[in-house]
Formats: sequence, C-alpha cells, structure tokens
Amino acid sequence: MFFNTMSSHFIIIFGFSLVFASFVNGVYEDDVNFDQNYVPLWANNHITRLYNGTEVQLLLDQSSGTGFRSISDYGSGRFGMRMKLPDKNTSGIVTSFYLTSAPVGSQPGNHDELDFEFIGSSTLLQTNVFADDSGGREERYQLWFDPRKDFHLYEILWNQYLVVFYVDGVPVRVFKNYKDKGVNYISNPMNIQATIWSAPWAGPVNWKEAPFISSYRRFGIDGCVSQSTSIDPKCLSPGLPWNVQKDLSPREQIMHQEFRKKNVVYDYCLDKARQQHHPECLLPHIPPD
Ligand SMILES: *[C@@H]1O[C@H](CO)[C@@H](O)[C@H](O)[C@H]1NC(C)=O
Ligand SMILES: *[C@@H]1O[C@H](CO)[C@@H](O)[C@H](O)[C@H]1NC(C)=O
Repeated sequence: MFFNTMSSHFIIIFGFSLVFASFVNGVYEDDVNFDQNYVPLWANNHITRLYNGTEVQLLLDQSSGTGFRSISDYGSGRFGMRMKLPDKNTSGIVTSFYLTSAPVGSQPGNHDELDFEFIGSSTLLQTNVFADDSGGREERYQLWFDPRKDFHLYEILWNQYLVVFYVDGVPVRVFKNYKDKGVNYISNPMNIQATIWSAPWAGPVNWKEAPFISSYRRFGIDGCVSQSTSIDPKCLSPGLPWNVQKDLSPREQIMHQEFRKKNVVYDYCLDKARQQHHPECLLPHIPPD
C-alpha cells in the first residue's frame, strides 16, 4: 500500500525521473536524512542541512573546504548521489563524489578508489579508478548538460564482475574485473565520500567569488555493508540486485558507445605515456556477448 501510494505520487510529480528512483525498505532514497547514513569529514560548520536533512550544502571559503563520508563501509552496491556544482568559475576547486578504501585521515598509499571529480572546471567531469594501486586511470568528459544548473545523478555500480560509472543513467565508463588476466581489481571494502576543496594544482581560485557551494541530495544507500577489513562474502551474493549485472545490457551498450564517441576528451588508455603501465588497456572494455 505504502509503495503504491508512493509510486503514483512520484510518477505524477517527477514523471521521467522515476526511471532513476529506487527504494530501500520502503523508503524512497531521496527522502533519507543525511545524518542517518553520513557524518562530516572535517569543518562541520561548512556543512548546511536543508529540507529536514534531505539536502546538504558543502561550502568552500578561504578558511576551509569540507566533506562527508558514509558511516559504514561497503563491499558492493550501486551508489548514487545527486549533485549540483557551484554556479561560479571554479578554477582551482575540486568537487567530488567517490568511494575509497583509504582510512580517514591517512595519506593513502596503494588503495581502492572510484572517483567522480570536477577539477578546476564546472563542466569537465573526470573519473578515476584505483585498484589496490596508485590509480592513474583518468578519463575526462564534456557533459551534455551544465552541472551547475541542476541536480544530476552520479552513480557507481560496483560488484565482483565490473564497475560502471553512470551519469543520469548513461553508462559513461566500464571497468571490468580482469583479475584472471593479471589486472588489479577493487578488493577492499570502501566508504562513500563527497568533498569540496581548493587544490593549488587545479589553477588559481577566484576568492572574490567565494563562498563556493556544492549541493548534494539522495542519502539512501543501495549497498552491502561490510565492516571487516576484507569484503564480507555476503556482499557477493547473487541475491543482491546490484550483483546481477555482469555486463552492460544491449540498450546500455548503445548508450555507452554513443557517449564514448561524442563526449570523451581524455582517455588514459589512449595516452602513450600511460597505457603501457595498464594492461587492461589492451583488453576489451565491453566484451562482446
Ligand atoms: C524529518 O526527518 C526525520 C528523520 O529522518 C523523520 O523522522 C521526519 O518524519 C522528517 N520530517 C518531515 C516533516 O519530513
Ligand atoms: C576562470 O578563472 C580563471 C582563473 O582566474 C581564469 O583564468 C579563467 O579565464 C576563468 N574562466 C572563465 C570562463 O571566466
């Protein structure tokens, strides 16, 4: 009954966006309170909760940036966050949403990490993959929308078969598990983080335009909690919805190929200096089925 009422409500109100909606235990992901699943990483006074904690603003000024992390670590899942970038010139500023296995506050050495990042630009999106190593698998994309104008859904699907980065349901990047071919793959539990901060290497910051505010929504988490130091075997269960996917569906493959043709502006696998260090560049990103 609850589901029926909720569904029809959202079909009427949100129409098309229902495609991206999901429920956990009968609660719409977007209705979950920030504090239920997340805690501040640093500079709590730069975090503003809105709409009963269903939206959070991260503020960067000359004194500090800020960020938050999930309370739990996860061993698989389809992690999604709605994000809106500062409507300013963000030269020198990094805005991110990512998963990481690095302990909070540590200088991470080799670790696992899956990143969405806007680096010194509000329109150029970067993704990166660390697989028990130091990463160096950057890709950059020109998006088909202005990420400063509205909230858009950024999702990371991660299971034992593959990682898929989605933007508004479009699979923009696939990283397959090629461990059997000697390629590193994600092997540690990760938590979810989001941050805004200034990085000297990302260009000069226009401090006259401060504060810079990035907004986040959707604090429900579709993931398998894994509190031990290695991935809990229950997170590999085929009974979990995000573990069913071993490859892109035919429809997703078409969307993926269209996106790759038009929107990729940098791919480490096409970078001669990089590709030699990454054996996965010689393997198909999407094997034919
Ligand atoms: C506000 O959030 C709390 C905790 O998630 C919830 O119990 C309460 O019903 C919410 N209130 C409104 C008006 O949505
Ligand atoms: C943004 O700011 C940087 C640094 O001040 C400047 O070099 C750049 O031209 C600006 N970009 C736009 C589009 O105004």
